[in-house]
Amino acid sequence: MLGSELRILWHLLRGLPPAATHAEQLERFYAPQAGRYDAFRERLLNGRENLVSKLNLRAGERVIELGAGTGRNAEYYGAQILQLEALTLVDLCPSLLAKARERVVKWPNAEAIEADVTVWQPALQADKVYFSYALTMIPDWFLAIDNAIKMLRPGGLLGVVDFYVSRNRPSSGLVRHPLWQRSFWPLWFGHDGVNLSPDHLPYLRSKLVTVELEEHLGGVPFLPGLKVPYYVFVGRKAGGD
Ligand SMILES: C[S@@+](CC[C@H](N)C(=O)[O-])C[C@H]1O[C@@H](n2cnc3c(N)ncnc32)[C@H](O)[C@@H]1O
Repeated sequence: MLGSELRILWHLLRGLPPAATHAEQLERFYAPQAGRYDAFRERLLNGRENLVSKLNLRAGERVIELGAGTGRNAEYYGAQILQLEALTLVDLCPSLLAKARERVVKWPNAEAIEADVTVWQPALQADKVYFSYALTMIPDWFLAIDNAIKMLRPGGLLGVVDFYVSRNRPSSGLVRHPLWQRSFWPLWFGHDGVNLSPDHLPYLRSKLVTVELEEHLGGVPFLPGLKVPYYVFVGRKAGGD
């Protein structure tokens, strides 16, 4: 247990390896960690179950997770998963997707697809689409958001849970993080290609009608006493009922 935690820590400390493309970089980073990915991220990726519950999944819906990794979040659905019309897990990293494919065999209505979520589109529009700790790993995150909104039917929901930092002057009602947090966390996570941005949340709020927004601080393994900001957002695409 401790040995596998230390191996993960070693990969995180080494950072994102150089590679020609984003897809190659993800594979080089995640391939050595894929077997232990879920266990380590349980303590780092806060709020994922909260996001799934806020999406309020219903029988007959088409649901898509973008940047789904190993597909771990689908386990939060419980028995509800088999009531969905379709669940599609999309990711660009073959090693993590292999884990997702092992998972989806137990759900006949689910599939795992290797694709870049800034351009991939489903054959049919979805009722619910979400990103869980993926936007911070996508360099063209604004294209990913635009593309996700395009996947949704009018009135459909886009959910996001992710790390972030606030703007120096956030909009009224939003949390303002102190300067040390706005400086330290982007540096700490940036080493691993995780880009904490002050702009993701304002962009989401500008594109969708906000249904739910929570701003929190969550624990970080190996950094006792420090807490990193994360948000849980659900927005509605205009139109529909
Ligand atoms: C931190 S992991 C989160 C995985 C999962 N959503 C979770 O909550 O455990 C970020 C994921 O985003 C994926 N990713 C990054 N850029 C992507 C892109 N352009 N298209 C598809 N997936 C991408 C990575 O391969 C990785 O699986």
